[in-house]
Amino acid sequence: MTYKVAVIPGDGIGKEVTVQAVNVLKAVGEKYGFDFEMTEVDAGGCAIDKYGKALPEETLKACQQSDAVLLGAVGGPKWDTLPGDQRPEQALLGLRKGLGLFANLRPAVLHQALKEASPLKPEIIGDGLDVMVVRELTGGIYFGERGREGDTAYDTEAYSKYEVERIARVAFDIAMKRDKKLMSVDKANILESSRLWREVVDNVAKEYPEVTVDHMYVDNAAMQLVRNPKQFDVIVTSNMFGDILSDEASMITGSIGMLPSASLGESKPGMYEPVHGSAPDIAGQGKANPLAMIVSAAMMLRYSFDLTAAADAIENAVSKVLDSGYRTGDIISPDMKLVGTEEIGRLVIENL
Ligand code: IPM
Ligand code: MN
Repeated sequence: MTYKVAVIPGDGIGKEVTVQAVNVLKAVGEKYGFDFEMTEVDAGGCAIDKYGKALPEETLKACQQSDAVLLGAVGGPKWDTLPGDQRPEQALLGLRKGLGLFANLRPAVLHQALKEASPLKPEIIGDGLDVMVVRELTGGIYFGERGREGDTAYDTEAYSKYEVERIARVAFDIAMKRDKKLMSVDKANILESSRLWREVVDNVAKEYPEVTVDHMYVDNAAMQLVRNPKQFDVIVTSNMFGDILSDEASMITGSIGMLPSASLGESKPGMYEPVHGSAPDIAGQGKANPLAMIVSAAMMLRYSFDLTAAADAIENAVSKVLDSGYRTGDIISPDMKLVGTEEIGRLVIENL
């Protein structure tokens, strides 16, 4: 079997970590008897430099014609002064909208070997952390009407029943495969869109009698995530709240350099990318942590291609590398062995 994958390295460390993920995919394919037809395309700052826009039509088209999209990271200081609608980040929004990727899965898992990298106390971490953040990705304030009137600027948060229903179903389906516990996060004490969100989630809940549903205000959720993260199994929330809470959830697992994500729609292709950004401060130095990107590639095998054994193999290889004490700078702790981007990528392949 040959899978068509559009590869978007993007900017900064995006390029470095993508190389490692592609190498791992090729290696696991050889081992399990499948391969990839990979098409590399530009998006983000590098596309602005080359084509004058963050998301060239050819890129979106190549992605639409693929079975899955693998994306490194976009953005950097070089493009920070551009007007909002021309920034590299627009490429991400354009891809999410253009591919209909309304569901963003961000698993925050603490590897046993990385307990010391978590800023939380051992008694809070207990035997580990495993929270799945399900973030709505094509609605809310990211895509609402915005503008300026005189001295005032505005952005709008709007959700339709349909949009909430479909993200809620994704979250319930995932909860069914996990601990059957769903926390819906909103700001229903203030926002009308959140009151609709709550109503719709409660309605969808009737289809999933086995799942325990709770609601929490986002400010409280931000606090509870560091106070007692073990109370959460699956969190479902809006685009903006999910953006914020998933960064927070990632840090309690040790490093944002460890966390993958999957963005899914009704049909293919899904898009897979690390939660971290382009990290311009360390770009080009060979020291970025490629593990989030590598585990994102594993998510691609799992969610887009149903290649469970191969996905497990990648994740196990990553765990073995960590168990053997190898670390990139972002997750280093005393007595561990410091390695660079290429070295840790090679070690993952060695452990497949
Ligand atoms: C993310 C990023 C993006 C977002 C930015 C770069 C547009 O922070 O994927 O979480 O806000 O969604
Ligand atoms: Mn973010």
